[in-house]
Parts: sequence; C-alpha cells; structure tokens
Amino acid sequence: MAMAGSRRMGLLALLPLLSNSHDAVLSHSNAYEKNVKEPFTGIEFEQQKQIDNNDYHLQATAVRCMLGQCKMAMARAYAIGLYTEDKQPVNETAVLTGAMNRILVLVMDKDVAGHHIAKGFDKSLLPRIRKAQAGSKRGSGKDALRDFTKCFNREKTLKKGSEVALLWTPDNKLVVYFDNQMRAVIESPILCRAVFDMYLGEDSIFRKYRNMSFTFHGGAASET
Ligand SMILES: *[C@@H]1O[C@H](CO)[C@@H](O)[C@H](O)[C@H]1NC(C)=O
Ligand SMILES: *[C@@H]1O[C@H](CO)[C@@H](O)[C@H](O)[C@H]1NC(C)=O
Repeated sequence: MAMAGSRRMGLLALLPLLSNSHDAVLSHSNAYEKNVKEPFTGIEFEQQKQIDNNDYHLQATAVRCMLGQCKMAMARAYAIGLYTEDKQPVNETAVLTGAMNRILVLVMDKDVAGHHIAKGFDKSLLPRIRKAQAGSKRGSGKDALRDFTKCFNREKTLKKGSEVALLWTPDNKLVVYFDNQMRAVIESPILCRAVFDMYLGEDSIFRKYRNMSFTFHGGAASET
C-alpha cells in the first residue's frame, strides 16, 4: 500500500508537466492496457483496434479544434487516431504515398451537428480536390466529396464519444464507418488522398493556427 501511494505521488508530481505538453502520453491509469491518451481531450486510443474484423495498429494521435483553440473545451471537436493494418511504424509521407490499409478514427469530444462536420470537410477538402482536378470545380473528385459529406449531412448529431472511421484502402476506396457500421464505400483516389492530406499533408489543418500536427507513437507502441 505504501509503495503504491508513493508511486501515485510521483505521477501526480508529473501532471503539471504533462498538461503543458502537446505530446500525447501513455495514460498511467491504463498503462497495462497500453492505451494512448490524447492530452487535450483525454480521449484514449487503443494501441490495437478491430475495425470491420481487421486488426489495426495505432500510429499517431491528434486533436481537431476551432481556430486552434485546443485548450477551450468549447472549441474542441474531436480527437483523431491514425491506424494502419501493418504494425511497422510509418511517417506522414508513407501514409500519403504508400499502398496500405490506413484508417483515421475520429472520436467526438462533444455533441456536434452532422451538417457542421460536413461543412468543415467541404471547406478543407474542396481546395485540395480542385487542385487534383487541375483547377476545375467539376470532376470525379467533387462528386466523391458530395457522397462523402452526404454521410454527415444525414446525421442530425454525432454524440460525444461516437466514432467516425475513414478507411483508405490500397485500391483507393474510402470506406466510411459510423460507430463501426459501414455507411459508404466511395471509390476515388482524389477524395482518399485529399482526406488524408487534410490531416497529414504539409499544409494540414493542424498547422494553420498553432503549427501543430499528429504526434507519432512509433516508440510508445513498441514499449514493454
Ligand atoms: C518516411 O518513410 C519513408 C518510407 O518508410 C522513408 O523513405 C522516409 O525517409 C521517411 N521520411 C522521413 C522524413 O523520415
Ligand atoms: C512548423 O513545424 C514544422 C515541423 O514541426 C517546422 O518544420 C516548421 O518550421 C514550423 N513552422 C513554423 C511557421 O513555425
């Protein structure tokens, strides 16, 4: 008992340091399950996760906030875990250019209206899709984007804690899951690339206000 108590004190002493850090840390309360906690939201990501009967491995975590105001609960929309089927650590370039099953898991940090999320995607994805269509407003990428945002527009509210998973397959299908239920399969290299570029590209949405990015856990995942 005395040992456990002093160990806890030791961890508490670290808390002020941790709360100022942008790096996600292994959650001590779940150290044995090896979850990774996204520091702003406190949302935990399993290092190994089953989605649609496949095993995926956590590579990185991040948080999506309005105007980069991640310290304000009101401004936080969702935490994100990046998973790959292969356990091998990857970087942004490998995720964007390789052929692999890779998946973004968005966990809502508050109740968010579906149309609000749809609008956010439109805003971030349209410029990327136009660029991929050689500047044109119309094209297969734009059609795919409409199918994608439809999934969110159909949803009145995405409740706090609910999960949206976006799988990019090696044959360029974007598979959309809401709480593990498949909602759409959209075949479009342009859309797949744009969705992942929005989070992992050089000009990602995280860089805009505070120059943040995904935190990769290649080291943490292989510990113990
Ligand atoms: C990213 O990963 C690729 C492929 O594994 C590798 O060739 C490249 O050097 C890495 N880039 C950086 C910046 O580490
Ligand atoms: C943003 O961060 C990246 C890498 O984390 C760095 O290379 C770049 O210089 C930073 N840009 C600014 C404007 O701080």
